[in-house]
Formats: sequence, structure tokens, C-alpha cells
Amino acid sequence: MSPSELHAADRTRWFTDARFGMFIHWGLYSLLGRGEWARYTEAIPPDEYHALADQFQPRYFDAAAWARLAKAAGMKYMVLTTKHHDGFCLFDSQYTDFTSVKTAAGRDFVAEYVEACRAEGLRVGFYFSVKDWDFPAYFDGPERNPEGWAKLVDHFHNQAKELLTNYGKIDIFWFDCSDDANFRGGWGDKTADVWRSQELVAWIRNAQPDILLNNRSGLPGDFSTPEQTIPHASQPGVFESCVTMTYKSWGYCPSDHYKDLWRLLDELTACVAAGGNYLLNVGPDPDGVIPLPACERLLQMGEWLRLHGEAIYATERVLPDWWDYFSGGRITTKGNNAYLILQLWTPTGVLSLNQLRNDVRRAVLLATGQELAVRREGRRLLIEGLPALPPALPFNVVKLELDGPAAPQFYY
Ligand code: GLC
Repeated sequence: MSPSELHAADRTRWFTDARFGMFIHWGLYSLLGRGEWARYTEAIPPDEYHALADQFQPRYFDAAAWARLAKAAGMKYMVLTTKHHDGFCLFDSQYTDFTSVKTAAGRDFVAEYVEACRAEGLRVGFYFSVKDWDFPAYFDGPERNPEGWAKLVDHFHNQAKELLTNYGKIDIFWFDCSDDANFRGGWGDKTADVWRSQELVAWIRNAQPDILLNNRSGLPGDFSTPEQTIPHASQPGVFESCVTMTYKSWGYCPSDHYKDLWRLLDELTACVAAGGNYLLNVGPDPDGVIPLPACERLLQMGEWLRLHGEAIYATERVLPDWWDYFSGGRITTKGNNAYLILQLWTPTGVLSLNQLRNDVRRAVLLATGQELAVRREGRRLLIEGLPALPPALPFNVVKLELDGPAAPQFYY
């Protein structure tokens, strides 16, 4: 590894250990309850959209409550939409009046959020939308309106610098939508040039040397961001899947449908078994309250992780991809341990594995600490003595202490 690769691995270490974070989409669009794209998809005129700021006075916004919930859910970091595509800033900006500080709310929500994350020992992430619908030049594009476009790019740089100067050490800067495929078909490999991202990223690396950057500035960044998908095989480099807890929307949308706990843990464990992070989104309501169905699921995930976190946090991806597909579950590894995440349960009391060449020193059911008998029969590893009913729901984990690093054998 070159010195810069080594530095990158060092920087991302806390992130790859963390595995699980909270994404929060919250802003003026939360008042509309139809997701975060309403300004654009419904062609809401600027004045009408701006007037929403008069109503944005979240009565129950409590960043400490958000951070406590994230922590109780077993999450290790948070990423908040400091500004989404609509251009409304949840922070104080000298470059626009369209902020929560200079309108009815009169509050710097980003400052409160940063303080709350730190108080709970959570890492702090800033989502920031590169595209900004508040700039007419954005719709003209750089060819038709080079001057207006240059102002928009300056605005982007200025605000990113404000965010990374005024709030102390920030752990993640999460760019979004520089490529803009859904509007113009994408800038492709010109994206970084169009936004002068090289210049901004150099400034950021200097100002915040430990910060992690995602891959949506037009440059590769420290991690990639599959959206609404969980890769079922390991990816090159570090990745973080960002996913909604409801089926469709990131911003508050009370009519959307919530995924159940099984599905959420399925996504989390799939991500981790593929070597990635899981950034799970919630959309607080206009009063700043995270909807109860989301709280319920997060607390349940936390409960599951308190029993089984060892199989999730700081796990390593050392296995070939086909290892994920052992019947009824997934496998993660750490040092000489392998964790069998059992999504299916069998009342026979016996688990038969066909993927492992190692000898097993000890097998333990994590939920109860019960030790299980293990014996080898040719290719098969038989784990015996499991109770007829699963001790935890929805998934259980059997920890195997191996004679060395996990040594896979391919099915025959
Ligand atoms: C997309 C959407 C946006 C959402 C984001 C999350 O870029 O435009 O609404 O914030 O994905 O990954």
C-alpha cells in the first residue's frame, strides 16, 4: 500500500467498524408530507415555496432525542440534510436568507444537531445537495448561462466551506446530486469539472484532514453510495448503502408504507456480510418528531444488536461472495471467529454447514450464551443441541471460534 492508501484505510477504519448509521431527511418539504422532491416535481413557484419558511417552526425539534434514538438503535453515526435540493438551509449562512436561522424558526438546527451527536458519542455527518433549485441558473445550465452557473458553483463552494468551518470537526461530508442524471442525463466524467469539485475537495482535505467524503462530488471519494439497493457481493473499496425505512420517500410522507423488522435486519445483515455499511433513513415530521413506526423499528433493531452486535460491528469481509448464500442466512467474520446469522430456524436442533474447512473450537448461540456441540462428518460440519424454538427474533446468531481465519470450501 502507498502512504496515501494507508492514510485512507486509517481514516475509514472507524467507518467500516461502525456499519450502521442514521440518515435524516428533514426540511421545508417535511411540511408538505409528500417526500423531498415536491418543489420540483409539482413545479411549485419559488414564492409559494419560500412562503413555507413562515410555517416552519418545529415545536418539538429535539436533536438530543434524535441522537439518543440513533444510539439506542445501535447506530454509530448520523447524516443530516443540512440543505437538500430545494435550497433551504438548516444552518446559518451568510450567502442566502433562505435558512432556518433567518426565517420563522430562528434556529440553527445544524448547530443543535452537531452538539447532540457529540454528546451521545456519535460521529457527525453532513448531507449537502450540490444542485440547488433555488438558483434559476441551475435550470439553464452552464452553456446557456455561464455567468449564473459560475455564481451557483461559488455558492456551493462557499456553503460547503461555511459548514466545514463553523461547526468544528465533522466526520462525513455527504455530497448529493452533482451528476444530475435525472434532469440532464448526467455530466458523466465532466461532473467534477462542472462543479470545480477538485478545488473544493482539496480545500476540504486541508481544512478537515480526517473527514470522509462520499463519491457524489464527481470524484471517487472515500466510499461509494449504492442507493436503495444492497449489493449482495463485496464491492471494490468501501461502500455504504443508503436506504429508506419506508418504501418510497426520504422526506416525511405519512402515507408511505414501512418495511418490517425482518426486512430491515435482512438489509442490514446483507450489507454487512458484503462488507459494507447500512445508512438507514428516517423522515421526521414538520414538528421535528421522528414518526412512531420508525422509532419502534429502530428500538427493535437496537434490541437485536445488543444481543448480536458482535456479528455486525467491526466485522471483516474475508470470504468469497458465494459464502453469503449458505442456506437460511449469512456469514460474517472477525479474526478467527465466524458468525452464522440464521434467518431461518429448524426445530430439528441440528445445523449442517457445507462451507467451512476449519476445525471449530467452540460454538455458542449468542442470544443465550448456550454452548453447542460440533462434529465433523466429511465435508459437513454438524452443530447440534439448538433449542426447538428460536431464542431471539427475527434472526439468531451462532458464533464459531475457529482454529484460524475462516477457510471457505466451495460447494460440490
Ligand atoms: C437522491 C435523491 C434524494 C435523496 C438521495 C439519498 O439523490 O435526489 O432525494 O436525498 O438520493 O441518497
